[in-house]
Amino acid sequence: MSGSAAIAHDPATRTWLLTTRATCYALRVAEHGVPLHVHWGGPLSLAQAVELPPSGVGPRSSFEGFGIGEELTVDGGNRYGPPALRVRFADGTRALTWQAAGHEQPDPATLLLHFTDSHYPLRTTLGYRVHAGTDVIERWTALTHTGTADEIVLVRADSATLSLPPRDDYRLSHAVGLWAAETQLKRDPLPFGETVLTSRTGTTSHQAQPWVILDAGDADGGWADETHGQVWSAALAWSGSWQLTLHHTPDNRLSLNAGAGHDAVTVALRPGETHTTPSLLTLHTPDGGFGGLSRAWHAHLRTAVLPHPEETRPVLYNSWEATGFSVTLENQSRLAAHAAALGVELFVMDDGWFGGRRDDHAGLGDWTPHPGAFPDGLRPLADEVHRLGMAFGLWVEPEMVNPDSELYRARPDWVLHFPHRDRTELRHQLVLNFARPDVAEWAHGWLTRLVAENDVDYLKWDMNRPFSEAGWPDEPSGRSDRLWFDHVRSYHSVLDRLRADHPRLRIEACSGGGGRVDPAVLARTDQVWISDNTDAADRLVIQHGYTQIYPARTMAAWVTDVPNQQTGRSIPLRFRFHSAMSGVLGLGGDLTRWQPAELKEAEQLIAEYKAVRHVIQHGELFRLRPPGDLQALSAVQYVTPDASESVVLAWLPQPRFGLPPAPLRLSGLPPESRYRDLRTGALHHARNLTERGLDLALPPTDWASTLVHLVRVQDPS
Ligand code: GLA
Repeated sequence: MSGSAAIAHDPATRTWLLTTRATCYALRVAEHGVPLHVHWGGPLSLAQAVELPPSGVGPRSSFEGFGIGEELTVDGGNRYGPPALRVRFADGTRALTWQAAGHEQPDPATLLLHFTDSHYPLRTTLGYRVHAGTDVIERWTALTHTGTADEIVLVRADSATLSLPPRDDYRLSHAVGLWAAETQLKRDPLPFGETVLTSRTGTTSHQAQPWVILDAGDADGGWADETHGQVWSAALAWSGSWQLTLHHTPDNRLSLNAGAGHDAVTVALRPGETHTTPSLLTLHTPDGGFGGLSRAWHAHLRTAVLPHPEETRPVLYNSWEATGFSVTLENQSRLAAHAAALGVELFVMDDGWFGGRRDDHAGLGDWTPHPGAFPDGLRPLADEVHRLGMAFGLWVEPEMVNPDSELYRARPDWVLHFPHRDRTELRHQLVLNFARPDVAEWAHGWLTRLVAENDVDYLKWDMNRPFSEAGWPDEPSGRSDRLWFDHVRSYHSVLDRLRADHPRLRIEACSGGGGRVDPAVLARTDQVWISDNTDAADRLVIQHGYTQIYPARTMAAWVTDVPNQQTGRSIPLRFRFHSAMSGVLGLGGDLTRWQPAELKEAEQLIAEYKAVRHVIQHGELFRLRPPGDLQALSAVQYVTPDASESVVLAWLPQPRFGLPPAPLRLSGLPPESRYRDLRTGALHHARNLTERGLDLALPPTDWASTLVHLVRVQDPS
């Protein structure tokens, strides 16, 4: 037996054991070469892992197949489940056979298992990277054409297959949505058969999120809740189309295939080429339930994924809901002056500043300042914003073009299109083919000049429509389908290049709100505009879904005007602030029309947010009560890693019978500590706060809300 602490190996049984802080993952390469799943759960020694049988079961009759319990389910033989890897060789053969071809450990935390096919020139490498400190195990697959002739078509090439331990039943938690209604958490029994979650849009999509959370139970219980129980989860680090396929068999086995590309997307490999899938991040929490899982995801994304984890995000102002497309030097300067007076730290001018843009019919693609609105360019506004002491940000939508633009008139071939088909316009725009190197170069060129010439501190990178007619007729190798991958890789690489060119630049990810968010976006951006819906009550629901996986530190939220532009609902300013304060606070209303009393209240609430945002942005999140029922209290709590401070945000939209809610039981506080409530000055034993609860003293009115800041007291007197 050999290996580092994170990765151990028993050569006699060809068993591998991957160990993280609180979990273990074990697999075995069978004698005939098939990589088999053994364990994904709590800690094991290598000797214990060696003793375990592989988790798959063989067929009981000639009518059933293998497949469940393989580390990457392939097409071939008597496997009848959904394949994670489906290949087509030039002679029409489809089945793949596994032959072990050695392993490598390029570093102590990475394991590469190599396999060849018994006849055809395809090398398959299964990659595992152990993030021992955060319990995340990263999985991917690399496929290499090792021959000298013909193409090998990867009909499906998932990153990995995951298997859960056998239990009587399973539950699936995932997020569904629509534009302006993203990330609504759903938790349902997992049906038998195949359940497919997917995006075919070219982005991660508003409709579904590329992650799942699973829990399992049997007659003895075992189901998880917010605070207890075992939970398994996976999130795909990919910003384009994707597919997650769950396979729940009648004998209660569960596997999950996850990868980039939807059902229609294939990859054609030429001799010498390698296709490397994006990473699938997998995470098991042995106890602590859905809340514990979320905190583990947040810790991983904050420490191992975000580009500037140590930073505290500033309070932002965005012009979109105030001035729409009609931005001018004058109206933006006026808004900037108001924003600065309130304590805003970053001023972002949204859509409308460029080309012939005055509505959504024209201008995308022509990234020079609108001559009427900015006769002397953007510099005067950038300088004014900087003079006011704020950072300066700009909205851009680099992957898009309006047919009514100079760019489209010059380069109609640059958009995704099929010959003999109309080009479907959505919001009067078409998608530029970022897979083309000339398009990516053009985008990087104007973006880096825009940032340098105008001293831009922040870009909001938007994408306001999905793909359609996703063709590339003059693709030089005749493999148009590669645009589904290369568009996304190019989006990533333009972001990477911009960040390298301008180390101080910070970036917001947006796609008509939350249409493109995943761990690969989070690796390259600083915060996410998670929805165009700024209604404070709807937002609580959207934020609840978003924070299942993604940290509050990335969750941009604005306080906007009432009646709300999306819902028509009028919610008091204080509630709107408290809703937006649970992430990265921003403002998005027309401040020139706010009354003096509103401006005063806003200034106070911004100051209050600044005093607690280190707890919200860097603390651990405890979801105390879910949102959704307007007559019930909902609440979240944040606790700093050393538990020295905690912040509670609570909302009660429509109290019933004028009754106050029961005391709110808090979490995450060491029981023997004492905390001072800075709102009331009262001193509390943590044990009382967690067992009896905190009296919130909410007023018995509609749209009641509060923020409580608790600070641990060393020597209470
Ligand atoms: C998208 C974004 C909005 C705004 C508009 C501008 O919808 O999500 O925040 O930037 O585009 O056109």
